Amino acid sequence: MRVLVTGARGLIGYHVAQVLTEQKVEPVLTSRGEAPFPNLPYRALDLTQRDAVHQLIRDTSPDVVIHSAAMTLVDACQEQPAVCWLRNVTATRYLLEALTKEKPQAHFIFVSTDFVYDGFPAEERPYVEGDYEAPLSVYGASKLAAEAWVKLYPGPWTIARTALVYGWTPTLPRDNILLRVIHRLSQGGVIQLFANQVRTPTWARDVAIGLFLLAEKRAQGLYHIAGSDIETPYTFGQKVAKVWNLPGELIQPITELDFRSPAPRPPYSPLSIAKARAIGYNPHTTEEALQLLHSTTIWVRG
Ligand SMILES: NC(=O)c1ccc[n+]([C@@H]2O[C@H](COP(=O)([O-])OP(=O)(O)OC[C@H]3O[C@@H](n4cnc5c(N)ncnc54)[C@H](OP(=O)(O)O)[C@@H]3O)[C@@H](O)[C@H]2O)c1
Repeated sequence: MRVLVTGARGLIGYHVAQVLTEQKVEPVLTSRGEAPFPNLPYRALDLTQRDAVHQLIRDTSPDVVIHSAAMTLVDACQEQPAVCWLRNVTATRYLLEALTKEKPQAHFIFVSTDFVYDGFPAEERPYVEGDYEAPLSVYGASKLAAEAWVKLYPGPWTIARTALVYGWTPTLPRDNILLRVIHRLSQGGVIQLFANQVRTPTWARDVAIGLFLLAEKRAQGLYHIAGSDIETPYTFGQKVAKVWNLPGELIQPITELDFRSPAPRPPYSPLSIAKARAIGYNPHTTEEALQLLHSTTIWVRG
């Protein structure tokens, strides 16, 4: 099985490359910057360049594509909708178009988001696959529009929605909630975290394992690949502070009345993972993941 991973320098793509290598599947990697792994095949390219995308698919002839590349900064998408659409929707369409022409049986796995939901469910329970989607932000709308293109792909496809992903890699293009809390608290600074946004935070390694499972089992359709615990950013931050032995009292709980970001976020978007569990997906609890990160990662200590 030859697996093409887009966004390989990103938080999720990097972990996917690691998990595939552990599973003895040699990935072919792509993103825009320098190669994230010296020993793995890599091509730097901009997925918004249609000809380059077609050439990539012709040259690599993948059996599976795990498409994680995207413009992921939610507020930047709100401020630059045209750029966001180009990177998130048009680039996905180019990949699908190239596969349809060059490798129509390839399994296309699209990494999507809980932000396709508005966060105002009829009953307060985690979202299940098939629930009504109504994104509040440009980012969420762009991912849902890309999902619509994926559903038109004539070959096998899977949409894997994940949420509030945390972790560390040496090539991270941006920070995440885990790194923000550790860096701020270890400098003795105050950090404000929303206490009224409800999520299922997900360790990047768990997402990667989930994506591998979807590929291995050829699972098709819509799946939630998220963490097992329901948290707010505030409760998550408190758990990080506890594991890293940092002063949790420096975390201030806030709501949108205290701070309004450019892009609206869903107030309540936990994802049910019951469907993914049925194919063997079994993510760590928040505490387990944080303990593992704390004991195995040397970066943030210094
Ligand atoms: N992180 C989260 O909390 C979260 C939550 C839900 C869903 N997701 C979804 O999960 C996926 C991966 O997220 P992530 O956090 O791993 O993202 P990330 O760390 O921001 O990395 C994004 C990657 O996409 C690549 N990329 C962006 N635009 C590109 C383009 N035009 N051409 C080629 N490569 C491009 C970047 O390449 P360079 O680094 O080389 O520029 C980078 O490697 C995304 O689809 C996102 O929507 C993420």
